[in-house]
Amino acid sequence: EKAGYRHFMAKEIAEQPVVLADALKHYIGGGRLNLPEGLDFTGVDRVVMVACGTANLACQVAKYWFEQIAGLACDVDIASEFRYRDPVLSDRSLAVFVSQSGETADTLAALRHAQDRVAQTLAVVNVPTSSIARESGLALPILAGVEVGVASTKAFTCQLAVLALLALKAGRDRGVLSEERLAGHLAALANLPGLLNHAVGLGEDLAALAVDIARARDVLFLGRGAMYPLALEGALKLKEISYIHAEGYAAGELKHGPIALVDASVPVVVMAPRDALFDKTVSNMQEVMARAGKVVLMSDPQGVAQAGEGVWRTITLPEVPPLLAPILYAVPAQLLAYHTAVAKGTDVDQPRNLAKSVTVE
Ligand code: M6R
Repeated sequence: EKAGYRHFMAKEIAEQPVVLADALKHYIGGGRLNLPEGLDFTGVDRVVMVACGTANLACQVAKYWFEQIAGLACDVDIASEFRYRDPVLSDRSLAVFVSQSGETADTLAALRHAQDRVAQTLAVVNVPTSSIARESGLALPILAGVEVGVASTKAFTCQLAVLALLALKAGRDRGVLSEERLAGHLAALANLPGLLNHAVGLGEDLAALAVDIARARDVLFLGRGAMYPLALEGALKLKEISYIHAEGYAAGELKHGPIALVDASVPVVVMAPRDALFDKTVSNMQEVMARAGKVVLMSDPQGVAQAGEGVWRTITLPEVPPLLAPILYAVPAQLLAYHTAVAKGTDVDQPRNLAKSVTVE
């Protein structure tokens, strides 16, 4: 069932261009959004998103989208925190529960907590028969296909795609996104599978980098804007399967503490598509270089040309509209974690102490 791949994770990373295209085809028809009738953001004044782990990081990316595309306030919670902190909910809140398995105990409990306290509950799930799908008002499948590897890969990119479509729908319903701009976003989304295919093809570059990353004790990941949750995801993926200590930070936060960790033994992965914040991220990157940190710059060709001088390693990704960069940059983050785990000889698909679906609180 690994279709010739050494691990399920490798297979699932490689499948992303195809499953993403399938998911997009399902939700976009004739240049229009094809979402369930009952889904309506018109009277909504707040989106509340709840999830665990990688699914939570997808929500953190989507927060930027809801705010930027739809001008809609958005809270993101870790499911295990949500119902214990008396979250402020109202009949104008729309609550979204994101889960690959649809069985994560904390996410399910959070859904039950929100059920009578919000206008609408919506599940974004990979398993359409799951408890979370069944119990929520509406369920949107992400159509990633069965994900076996404990490290979530294709579910993450498909979750992001569906959440991006939700943000577009919110923008339309609220009258803040024009038909023209919607069409532009949909066209950009349609190009994504091809870009992901290119990223999947960077496996050898990332395998070469991974040989050196495998020797590190600590690795930092940096990003700004919607690339900040991607930095968190890069770190989560690496620690989960290679057991190397890794942390993600908002690049601007580095000088408020974590830069004390940086020395010549610490690789620092900087996820920097050439967006509006690129120059600021680069200046944070230079702060790392001034402390001898080993910078891995992930950017597009022009970004690498502009800022790549003197960095330890570069990974060149295709150019992508900034809004969609988190979906593309997920792939090199996954490949780096994967090849580092392979270099270390850890159990990639079934890392120690972890379960695919966490059904206890
Ligand atoms: O099935 P879920 O999406 O609800 O699972 C949530 C997390 O347990 C999951 O994403 C976990 O963080 C992954 N192992 C990360 O790769």
